[in-house]
Amino acid sequence: MRKITRIFFVCVVLSNALFGQDIKNITVLVDKPTAKVSPNMWGIFFEDINFAADGGLYAELVKNRSFEFLSPLMGWKEVKHDGGSGSTLIINRGEANSNNPRFARITVKSASGSYGLENEGFRGMGIEGGKQYNFSVFARQNSGATKIKIQLLGTDNKILGEAALQNFTDQWNKYSVSFNSTATDAKAHLAVLFEGEGVLDVDMISLFPKDTWKGRPNGLRADLAQKLADLKPGFIRFPGGCIVEGRDLANRYQWKKTVGKVEDRELIINRWNTEFSHRSAPDYFQSYGLGFFEYFQLAEDIGAAPLPILNCGMACQYNTAEVAPLDQIDPFIQDALDLVEFANGPVTSKWGKLRAEMGHPAPFNLKMMGVGNEQWDVQYLDRYKLFAKALNAKYPDIKLITSSGPSPSGAQFDYLQKELRVQKANFLDEHYYQSPDWFMQNASRYDGYDRNSSKIFAGEYAAHIKEPKTAKDAETMNAWISALAEAAFMTGLERNADVVQMASYAPLLAHVEAWQWRPDLIWFDNLRSVATPNYYVQKLFANNKGTDVVPALMDGKILAGKDSLYSSAVIDKTNRQLIVKIVNTSSKPMPVKLSLQNGPAYGKATWTELSSANDLDINTLNDPQRVYPAETALASADLGKSPLKLKPKSVNVIKVSYK
Ligand code: AHR
Repeated sequence: MRKITRIFFVCVVLSNALFGQDIKNITVLVDKPTAKVSPNMWGIFFEDINFAADGGLYAELVKNRSFEFLSPLMGWKEVKHDGGSGSTLIINRGEANSNNPRFARITVKSASGSYGLENEGFRGMGIEGGKQYNFSVFARQNSGATKIKIQLLGTDNKILGEAALQNFTDQWNKYSVSFNSTATDAKAHLAVLFEGEGVLDVDMISLFPKDTWKGRPNGLRADLAQKLADLKPGFIRFPGGCIVEGRDLANRYQWKKTVGKVEDRELIINRWNTEFSHRSAPDYFQSYGLGFFEYFQLAEDIGAAPLPILNCGMACQYNTAEVAPLDQIDPFIQDALDLVEFANGPVTSKWGKLRAEMGHPAPFNLKMMGVGNEQWDVQYLDRYKLFAKALNAKYPDIKLITSSGPSPSGAQFDYLQKELRVQKANFLDEHYYQSPDWFMQNASRYDGYDRNSSKIFAGEYAAHIKEPKTAKDAETMNAWISALAEAAFMTGLERNADVVQMASYAPLLAHVEAWQWRPDLIWFDNLRSVATPNYYVQKLFANNKGTDVVPALMDGKILAGKDSLYSSAVIDKTNRQLIVKIVNTSSKPMPVKLSLQNGPAYGKATWTELSSANDLDINTLNDPQRVYPAETALASADLGKSPLKLKPKSVNVIKVSYK
């Protein structure tokens, strides 16, 4: 940039006032970069909480498709039509197939009419009119000749689409058929009707929209995946979250059980099924249809670096706190080593071969991995050391993410921050679910961090307005004030790009009828999704992350709360832009003059504003753009002359292109 002809924007410090407010002067030292912005900055945190995977991002519409829930017919009900009769027997063939032990033996006893099972979906099935749906089933004819009639039924039981399958053999085979839906219905259900006397075994009864994200079979819900892609995230952390740890070790997340053929993936209970008694979800399981291969694929599709988090031999310390003894930790470490091979290894290696068989011979370019989720104390440190020794020896280029516990301060936090730095850990994962005030007060948290030690991954954060006690409290957990506070704090993350190299809001997704935790970044029902004000803050930062931080100063000092203003600035050398973020947390409008010092010749400029009239304004499925960014064009040359009139409680992104 220094080679470019410079135009000096002279900042005239005026003593006049606008809106009864002194004009604030923010000076950006355009030619004094202080740090490189990590390409991985501003990522996303995916956890299967709030029906984020099954019933959410994973586009499967049938719940309990392989009869493996603890109550094998949960989600299903028997139906009989036109004098048909029959029965369903759940059979466990655990000795022959321990991953997918159960199937349904359907006996049709009547020559006419039909007997069948109806599936309710995940709080219903979201069906779009005019779209294709793909049905599949594994079936084996034991006796007689049975025909399957498939009917997609609307809320009023009208048929939205139908198809049939027949001529099953006496061996297990997969059968598929497609049909179109005639109408849209957010609460449809599926009838699988059996006709003709005989005994038919069925398993893995599945219904997917054809139009998944990128049209992939076993794919993802397109609208949700698109919202993730629109963030242009630097990384995607998966699969959690506490889900990694499990309430006990038997129910921990084990990536090897989530890869290979979908029908061979072993379902387990979702730990959020029972975590909160007031939000229990007895039908919440992990089918693992969305497994590690699909996570890597999603990361690649949206241009995000994959960041898997693995169990480190510790179950959730809020639950059983079960630990694998140190002398029995090897299988856990082996899982981590094998994951690198699965992601990056040659197709001739055991795990690289599986990746290739699943359709991706090229490596997934894994560069980092989390050891444990939200662990604490010496038990964690001991286990981390063993992981680090093995992983660093075999894969020295893989960066390891380590926990610093569930809180951003306190004895446990201090202990791990100190000890892990002694271990030269690559990244310390900090979590903060705190009040909006905390976020605003902590915008300079990282200004004093050691620049030459472990880097920071702000791995889970969200401003929590208050403990939700009423329905109204709960509804407003994603209100504007929380997003504003996060934006103020995020200027501090951006300013400290040499220390904070990754950050992700948490959790990511929540079904409006099936959530366990709020606030969340994106809400959805069976057909629609809505981005929260917090989403738009994330998007503004992630889409404008730049390549180099430059100082944004007021009175020669960093701006982290003085006069309720927060600011950070970056230049984007690739797109030749200067981008300044200013957050006004005051309830008054704020006149601000920007002085871009020692910069190049500027071209077009834009000013994006995100604000809302009321602190508790929210976006909803029916009113999705109440809090929504608005962009206006600016004459760049005016920046130093006339003040920008920042709205009360607003997030502002001023983007100026340079020649
Ligand atoms: O984001 C929700 C939960 O918060 C995560 O599962 C856990 O890591 C944290 O306690």
